[in-house]
Amino acid sequence: MSDTIQSVHFPSFKASLPSQEGKTVVITGTTSGTGKIAARTSLELGAKVLVLNRKSARSEAMFKELSEAFPSADFHAVECDLQSFASVRNAIEEVKTLCPEGVHVLANNAGVMALADEATGDGFDVQMQTNHLSHFLLTKGLMPLLEKAAEASGEARIVNHSSVARMQPSKKLKPEYLEKRGGSLGGNGASMFFGGARWKRYNQSKLANCAFTAALHHKLQAKHPKIKALVAHPGLANTNLQKTSVKEGGMGAFFTSLFMKMAQSMEDGAMGLISCMFKADAQSGEFYGPGKGTTAMKGKAIAFPLESFYDNPGTRDLLWQKSCEAIGEDFTI
Ligand SMILES: NC(=O)c1ccc[n+]([C@@H]2O[C@H](COP(=O)([O-])OP(=O)(O)OC[C@H]3O[C@@H](n4cnc5c(N)ncnc54)[C@H](OP(=O)(O)O)[C@@H]3O)[C@@H](O)[C@H]2O)c1
Repeated sequence: MSDTIQSVHFPSFKASLPSQEGKTVVITGTTSGTGKIAARTSLELGAKVLVLNRKSARSEAMFKELSEAFPSADFHAVECDLQSFASVRNAIEEVKTLCPEGVHVLANNAGVMALADEATGDGFDVQMQTNHLSHFLLTKGLMPLLEKAAEASGEARIVNHSSVARMQPSKKLKPEYLEKRGGSLGGNGASMFFGGARWKRYNQSKLANCAFTAALHHKLQAKHPKIKALVAHPGLANTNLQKTSVKEGGMGAFFTSLFMKMAQSMEDGAMGLISCMFKADAQSGEFYGPGKGTTAMKGKAIAFPLESFYDNPGTRDLLWQKSCEAIGEDFTI
């Protein structure tokens, strides 16, 4: 895997972004990849920034690096392991203490890909809990702070991070992947193109990110239209995601090294996410990424509408009901 892919679009994209002074931004998964770029960009734009990560040497090194680069920034690290609902609940309380002014942008970025068929301590598929269910809980817990910021300053944003994998191998969200069935969801088949179960679980989690955005968008437009719900995908970006998948047995090293020759830099890959977070004219219900098809792997982030295979009443209701059951709480907007 090459570590030397040059950014093509990111410098001019970043120069086009408005100041975020006076805004408070919360981002999950910032030890590397798109989340780290989003955290750095948020600091450059003058926001108060909270980064939510599980405890590790990586998260400590990232926090030290960015603290040293931005010594006068209002910058906070909050421990949050998305494999544990208890950890997410603790993080919600810490964010409430740190942000009495509210939260203007919540970026649900963190993710894992093609991991083994294992249950979290809460009993859910490790990919679904990390990528979607814990972000659902976090969003519920931070909704009062998003409402507060939106009332005070005119808008707040919730941004989810999906993937081209939202449509492969299935465009249909299936309830069992959101249930307490971790460890019994198809086994460890690793074939990306021939129905490997690791990839089916990733597909379902990235489809859930989109269905969550669609459900949030409709509910918020009806009740709190100052809060926007958006979703992004990075195409194929040169982050740690694939390296971790190789290490965990989800991808072969040789195939991945060939595949990643098609990737864009992690900065260019972060443009969809950061567009949703900060682009002045981004609207609720928009999807930002390098195009909408299965081959949209690189390029400028463009806006396109949410897609009907998850933005429909049946899928939105399924996502909401199963996610509430999973976290054991109602989430009423
Ligand atoms: N790169 C791509 O080509 C690509 C393509 C499509 C979609 N995406 C999506 O982009 C998002 C960002 O991924 P990336 O490509 O930037 O990968 P990355 O470099 O591996 O970053 C993923 C981040 O998620 C964090 N994370 C993983 N498990 C966590 C947990 N249990 N609790 C808290 N944080 C956790 C990681 O932290 P640790 O250091 O603690 O593991 C890391 O900070 C993901 O949602 C991914 O699905 C990426």
